[in-house]
Amino acid sequence: MEANSCFFFGLLLLLASTMSLANAKVQHHEFLVQATKVKRLCKTHNTITVNGMFPGPTLEVNNGDTLVVKVTNKARYNLTIHWHGIRQMRTGWADGPEFVTQCPIRPGGTYTYRFTIDGQEGTLWWHAHSSWLRATVYGALIIYPREGTSYPFPKPKRETPILLGEWWDGNPIDVVRESTRTGAAPNISDAYTINGQPGDLYNCSSEDTVIVPIGSGETNLLRVINAALNQPLFFTIANHNFTVVGADASYLKPFTTSVIMLGPGQTTDVLISGDQLPARYYIAARAYQSAQNAPFDNTTTTAILEYNSAPCPAKCLTSKPIMPPLPAFNDTNTVTAFSNSLKSPRKVEVPTDIDEDLFFTVGLGLNRCPRNFRRRRCQGPNGTRFTASMNNVSFVFPSNFSLLQAYQQNIPGVFTTDFPAQPPVKFDYTGNVSRSLWQPVPGTKLYKLKYGSKVQIVLQDTSIVTPENHPIHLHGYDFYIIAEGFGNFNPKTDKAKFNLVDPPMRNTVAVPSNGWAVIRFVADNPGVWILHCHLDVHIAWGLAMAFLVENGVGKLQSLEPPPADLPLC
Ligand code: C2O
Repeated sequence: MEANSCFFFGLLLLLASTMSLANAKVQHHEFLVQATKVKRLCKTHNTITVNGMFPGPTLEVNNGDTLVVKVTNKARYNLTIHWHGIRQMRTGWADGPEFVTQCPIRPGGTYTYRFTIDGQEGTLWWHAHSSWLRATVYGALIIYPREGTSYPFPKPKRETPILLGEWWDGNPIDVVRESTRTGAAPNISDAYTINGQPGDLYNCSSEDTVIVPIGSGETNLLRVINAALNQPLFFTIANHNFTVVGADASYLKPFTTSVIMLGPGQTTDVLISGDQLPARYYIAARAYQSAQNAPFDNTTTTAILEYNSAPCPAKCLTSKPIMPPLPAFNDTNTVTAFSNSLKSPRKVEVPTDIDEDLFFTVGLGLNRCPRNFRRRRCQGPNGTRFTASMNNVSFVFPSNFSLLQAYQQNIPGVFTTDFPAQPPVKFDYTGNVSRSLWQPVPGTKLYKLKYGSKVQIVLQDTSIVTPENHPIHLHGYDFYIIAEGFGNFNPKTDKAKFNLVDPPMRNTVAVPSNGWAVIRFVADNPGVWILHCHLDVHIAWGLAMAFLVENGVGKLQSLEPPPADLPLC
């Protein structure tokens, strides 16, 4: 290029970028969190909701926009809100996990979350990140393409968020408190929900079953979110195929399938076509249960896909919609086939020349009953208490400072930075594990990452107590999932499976039961970021760790100062 045209081109670029900046909006919202009467399964509950809605309000933004959400806590519980999957570049103070990036908003308190969506498009969601409040405090966060750009697929006629939830016929906070007391597994849920409604197959629920409209010949987008607390879910629609086009706010190479699986925390965008006889078809979700012999909620939630042109009686309540087949509860093959189909749309830049080669075991454990505990506090298997860990460290959340605050203000004694890069003891992770390895060590251990370091983590499930599919979620980052497999990860032979061309990008990876997953990312977002299992039951047991990503050089590579209204403990 000549100097002249080079200058002209540069000017164009500058113009384009200032124009898109000019288009980016700042959106203000208020979340009022309080107990609201919600009737489900024949009973009215005092449910904690946002703005009196269950599920909470859907936020709709464009890539590039800034969200300012003032949260007021009028509930009787501590509260924080997490913007699941938002990268929060340099704005870790707005991430939300309790005692990680902030202290809770106390009853009566407020906090304003302020952050910019930069480079992400698709479906994310927001949820409470304190105790089990997220059972009812959650909603969709939809990110449309940057102003002036469009989807990498034909524009759908309609778009519908589909939030899959989990409902207890009691107070979810009491359920988790009870299990903390007894050391046993918490009670299983009583229903799953689609957009807050259990649907036709449950008592007292038919009248409120969610209807999703479609017209013949239309192509519509469903933004499916697994907001359930503890259960990976299969999702399908009778007689209709899905074209999967995105997951966790990253686009995917389109492929068709009749069923998808989402671990808690995950989202999947699918296109459906109104190409079937005008009628009513069930949309259904139920458990994918990989843990053997563990009790689980085996019910099925439904909504109805209804053709606008469907004639009565097809549309009238007398005829039942068509019910789809669902995979067996333990159908791991379907899950594997689905996750192997996820690919980025084109060749992507996967980090190579790895600086941090990490290997984390993820799994459950059992603690012997502490001497000073009564029997009734040790109602886990054989008089134990359930626990969980990564690399044999069972994560303990601080209670007097947030980790980010302790780091930024150099407060000693809150955490250590000696989280092990490898399991302290190597063993046959997916075999018959010796009982001497079932009890992890509690600790608040972080792992330090230099700004810009290239990180690989092998996440290895263990068969301690039971193998299980763990949805592992990393805050502050998206990562590439470059491989998955079963058994113990073998660094010699399994490298051959690495997809360094078009691996999918996500924020939550469903680590195969009795298997492993390998993820990669560049540590370009300074702050403290928790990596945890998104089964809430496992968080309380300690299935978590956190990264401390140091500042780089200069302001743009450094964590912003904390906002003035940041809640302190
Ligand atoms: Cu969706 Cu730490 O969470």
